[in-house]
Amino acid sequence: MGLLQKLLRPVFWVLFVALWSTPYTGSASVEEANALLKWKQTLQSADTSVLTTWILDPKNGSGSSASCPCNWLGVSCNAEGRVTRLNLMNSSVKGTLETFPCSSFANLAYVDLSMNELSGPIPSQISSLPLVYLNLSTNELSGNIPPEIGLLTKLETLHLPQNHLNGSIPQEIGQLKSLSELALYTNHLSGPIPSSLGNLSNLVSLYLYDNQLSGSIPNTIGNLKALVSLSLHTNNLSGSIPQTLGDLTSLAHLHLYMSQLSGSIPNELGNLKFLVDLKLSDNQLSGSIPASFGNLSELTHLFLRVNNLSGLIPKEFHNLKNLIVLEMERNQFSGDLPDICQGGKLQNFTVSTN
Ligand SMILES: *[C@@H]1O[C@H](CO)[C@@H](O)[C@H](O)[C@H]1NC(C)=O
Ligand SMILES: *[C@@H]1O[C@H](CO)[C@@H](O)[C@H](O)[C@H]1NC(C)=O
Ligand SMILES: *[C@@H]1O[C@H](CO)[C@@H](O)[C@H](O)[C@H]1NC(C)=O
Ligand SMILES: *[C@@H]1O[C@H](CO)[C@@H](O)[C@H](O)[C@H]1NC(C)=O
Ligand SMILES: *[C@@H]1O[C@H](CO)[C@@H](O)[C@H](O)[C@H]1NC(C)=O
Ligand SMILES: *[C@@H]1O[C@H](CO)[C@@H](O)[C@H](O)[C@H]1NC(C)=O
Ligand SMILES: *[C@@H]1O[C@H](CO)[C@@H](O)[C@H](O)[C@H]1NC(C)=O
Ligand SMILES: *[C@@H]1O[C@H](CO)[C@@H](O)[C@H](O)[C@H]1NC(C)=O
Ligand SMILES: *[C@@H]1O[C@H](CO)[C@@H](O)[C@H](O)[C@H]1NC(C)=O
Repeated sequence: MGLLQKLLRPVFWVLFVALWSTPYTGSASVEEANALLKWKQTLQSADTSVLTTWILDPKNGSGSSASCPCNWLGVSCNAEGRVTRLNLMNSSVKGTLETFPCSSFANLAYVDLSMNELSGPIPSQISSLPLVYLNLSTNELSGNIPPEIGLLTKLETLHLPQNHLNGSIPQEIGQLKSLSELALYTNHLSGPIPSSLGNLSNLVSLYLYDNQLSGSIPNTIGNLKALVSLSLHTNNLSGSIPQTLGDLTSLAHLHLYMSQLSGSIPNELGNLKFLVDLKLSDNQLSGSIPASFGNLSELTHLFLRVNNLSGLIPKEFHNLKNLIVLEMERNQFSGDLPDICQGGKLQNFTVSTN
């Protein structure tokens, strides 16, 4: 017994020291709490939003666990009491990110401030956060996407859609090696699609639609072998559709409609055997439909309307047994229609003005 006690004494001692020095009440979390409160003071909505829960309790005083922000709404911490997540989605936060104390959070990896009233620019200092997930969707952010965003090399999700961002997409975004989702749609972005996006080998979805992007679609997009959804529609893209898109063999959704694309449709698109949804309408595409389209057996939606396409509709179309909607009007097609009804699923077929 005496021996056991002797043996255990150092264990108790270590336990005591460990509890005493636990960083949960340490100065780091106090510093993080104060940093969040400083930002709160700059917000117009501080007294009305969920941020009313962000307070230091004067009775238990700073330095006690009450000043740890880990219990505040929208704030999550790791076991050491450091802030790791900030989720204020749809929380009536009105203010700017310029006053956000980016340098105060060494562990903040997940930031969701979507659906608020944040205005002004995205500060370049955001690059000092160890972000894995950033969602600033549906705010009123303006100005350029800072090139420093390329320093966020752990980032897996970057969602900045539905803001007022302008200027061009920084080529530095191509440095975000871990990125799997990139959404910049419904902004005022102009200039070209950077060819460096072809370096994002983990990208699964790329949504750049509803902007004023111009120039041609870079051939390097064909390097994005993991891509399932590619939506570049409703832009001012010109030139022809790159043949390299035929290398995107996981692609299910390809949306290139409502731009200024010209030239013929590459045969290589017939390689995309998992394609469900192909929308090329409202461009200036010419030439005929490639016979290889007969291999797109999963296709349910094919939109080719309002282009300059001509020639016969390939007889291989009888293989498209999953087609639900086929829109081909306002082109210069000629000849007989193949049997496109064999699948029995076709609901809408438009072919007028040809
Ligand atoms: C801080 O004090 C308030 C009452 O003023 C109490 O409700 C709360 O539990 C205290 N928090 C801690 C962690 O002691
Ligand atoms: C956002 O918050 C408002 C008000 O609290 C609520 O009515 C609305 O349903 C919320 N929307 C979403 C998408 O959560
Ligand atoms: C980003 O936020 C929006 C709005 O809250 C949400 O609809 C969307 O799914 C989020 N994006 C991701 C990748 O979670
Ligand atoms: C972007 O918008 C800002 C105003 O928010 C304006 O000053 C600037 O000139 C615009 N830049 C571009 C490239 O359109
Ligand atoms: C990224 O892409 C650009 C343009 O395509 C290329 O010049 C560059 O070498 C690539 N960088 C890396 C690190 O792969
Ligand atoms: C679209 O791009 C063309 C050049 O390709 C340019 O002349 C035109 O002004 C652009 N339109 C818009 C609305 O940006
Ligand atoms: C369709 O695919 C088969 C094999 O997958 C290939 O042999 C054939 O050439 C393709 N047809 C067209 C028209 O590309
Ligand atoms: C498209 O066809 C129209 C009418 O046939 C013609 O005037 C126009 O030049 C064509 N455009 C292109 C880009 O081929
Ligand atoms: C077919 O067209 C009608 C009328 O434009 C539309 O209401 C319906 O939603 C379309 N069906 C499909 C499956 O797109």
